Amino acid sequence: MTERPADPASDLRAPADDDEARALLLAGEIDLEGRMLDASNVTLVGAVRTAELAAECVYKPVAGERPLWDFPDGTLAGREVAAALVSDATGWRVVPPTVLRDGPFGPGMVQLWVDGDPTVDLAAFVRLDHPGLRRMAVFDAVVNNADRKGGHIIPTPAGHVHGVDHGICFSAEPKLRTLLWRWAGQRLPADALAVLERLAEGLRDDLGEQLHEHLTRREVRRTQQRVAELLRTGRHPEPSGDWPALPWPPF
Ligand SMILES: Nc1ncnc2c1ncn2[C@@H]1O[C@H](COP(=O)(O)OP(=O)(O)O)[C@@H](O)[C@H]1O
Ligand SMILES: [Mg+2]
Repeated sequence: MTERPADPASDLRAPADDDEARALLLAGEIDLEGRMLDASNVTLVGAVRTAELAAECVYKPVAGERPLWDFPDGTLAGREVAAALVSDATGWRVVPPTVLRDGPFGPGMVQLWVDGDPTVDLAAFVRLDHPGLRRMAVFDAVVNNADRKGGHIIPTPAGHVHGVDHGICFSAEPKLRTLLWRWAGQRLPADALAVLERLAEGLRDDLGEQLHEHLTRREVRRTQQRVAELLRTGRHPEPSGDWPALPWPPF
């Protein structure tokens, strides 16, 4: 009787938590499987594996970035990692585990792939008064996210809400473009205020230093100012123009 050779990949398990996921993303071998075709920059998907762990990931090589006139400094990959650092500091787990590392096409950002819930109607979901979306709205105000469209919001089957594609965050100019304006002008929830206090402290200290590896001093300072402004008003920001600043296309 012939037996099929054991598939080495079948013994691998998924990372148990975000720390393990980050360790896997940093050390694992990346096997590319495909490219997201509607993406404006080079966005690749693949598997990342160590001897024990395996997961799907997104890999965006710096070499595949299209230059943007309004984000002249640093790299989009660096901005994604900076957004993940802020997300980690909030404890809200908006951004899936994300690292900067060398990959098959050179240095880039590698992010854990998160499976969305295919039964969720995104167009209806993004209008809900959902605590995960509300936290995301606060996070976006902090990082000055210029691109919170529907496709960058991933509700999971477990009820968590992840955000992806943070390459155009942290401009020194106000650029908040999002679908999540439903709380505009409303008082921030108490837990958000507590998180913002912690962020303000972190930005003066370790977090500020970590962000400066990826952002200009001015962009880090502006991030501190946005946090200070949220704490001063105690409210969700309002769109600055006559009309809410919406991403285009919205989904
Ligand atoms: N970490 C992730 N987990 C699951 N899906 C993702 C992840 N990152 C991206 N995607 C999906 O891939 C699409 C393209 O990725 P995105 O980061 O938006 O790339 P681009 O910068 O090229 O627009 C997203 O709209 C989203 O649907
Ligand atoms: Mg995108």
